[in-house]
Amino acid sequence: MKTILVTGGCGFIGSNFVRLLVAERDWNIVNLDKLTYAGNLANVADVDAGRMRFVRGDICDREFMERLFQEEQPWAVVNFAAESHVDRSILDSTPFLQTNIGGVHALLEAAQKSGVEKFLHISTDETYGDKEGLKPSNEAAALSPSSPYAASKAAADLLCFSYLRTFGLPVIITRSSNNYGPYQFPEKLIPLLIRNALSEMELPVYGDGRQIRDWLHVEDNCRGILAVLENGQIGSIYNIGTGEERTNLDVVEAICIAVAQQAGIPLGKLKERIRFVTDRPGHDRRYAIGTAKVRSETGWRSRTDFATGLRETVRWYLANRDWIASVTSGAYQTYYDSVYKKSWERSA
Ligand code: NAD
Ligand code: TYD
Repeated sequence: MKTILVTGGCGFIGSNFVRLLVAERDWNIVNLDKLTYAGNLANVADVDAGRMRFVRGDICDREFMERLFQEEQPWAVVNFAAESHVDRSILDSTPFLQTNIGGVHALLEAAQKSGVEKFLHISTDETYGDKEGLKPSNEAAALSPSSPYAASKAAADLLCFSYLRTFGLPVIITRSSNNYGPYQFPEKLIPLLIRNALSEMELPVYGDGRQIRDWLHVEDNCRGILAVLENGQIGSIYNIGTGEERTNLDVVEAICIAVAQQAGIPLGKLKERIRFVTDRPGHDRRYAIGTAKVRSETGWRSRTDFATGLRETVRWYLANRDWIASVTSGAYQTYYDSVYKKSWERSA
């Protein structure tokens, strides 16, 4: 039976991807994760231990990664492991450069030695930068990252392709839009607002709230990633998104409505808690990507409309309050205060 190495498989998208693989492919899964604040074994607690081997480790540790490749001989690696939150990269960019660039470098080296068939690196539409007033980016668009997070992801993408050209490593990249769904750490917009709405806390909106994002259900992204892994061309980039654009204010309104309906909190009470707070430095106004390539080459389509996906997501958070409590214990409050109480006080 084939083995696939999933790195960062205890994070939000990685854990959903592992679950999809368990359901729809008979491959052995090795899930390598450092278990940072964002990685949680509870995210894969329902995965049959016979189908997934969990290994705790750091993609930055090249020797360790080389040994793992030797032991497991995976046919493919899908790299989700990353520092993934823009706001944290503003407070302290150091771990972003370490994991998102240094870690990808170590992984490329280890993979190249082992001779994998596919090296699928998970990137982001944020590498294209702010698209306010511009046409959506296709895969050939120039990289113009704004945040330290986006810059670290863009650097990694370039490094990956240098390993294809120079050493023949079979690299493929996906760049998706903003994901939402179960198991997302409550620091990104949608889970943070759902948590706050359920906890009688304020609902913070950065700046004027008219920034635009394209929201993609995590399961749709995972299906896209699997389609690209199996049917994508080596050396190609694939954008994955819905093409639907929404302002943050629209998203906040939709969250209030879904929470009001499901948690029985009066809608007016929720809306009273919306607060316009100090904007994120360097905040991109709009992300927009063209997705014709992934659709024509792999047949992938997004299946989940936003209203349904959001309703199901709110239902999941309501049913998993223990999970929310466990992942927001410890250092979470310090992070929260730096952004929301102390207006972007930098830790480094
Ligand atoms: P996440 O923060 O929820 O999870 C990241 C995972 O990587 C965690 O389990 C963490 O423990 C692990 N990790 C971090 N550093 C590591 C290291 N040095 N070694 C091993 N494991 C390490 O992130 P996510 O939202 O699931 O994002 C996954 C990938 O998708 C990232 O590469 C991110 O840039 C990309 N992406 C995310 C989104 C989104 O909306 N969340 C959109 C586009 C692209
Ligand atoms: P986020 O989920 O952090 O993703 P992105 O990587 O696209 O920035 O934020 C989505 C949008 O929501 C972005 O425009 C910033 C905004 N936002 C708020 O207005 N308030 C918040 O508390 C957060 C976390 C984000």
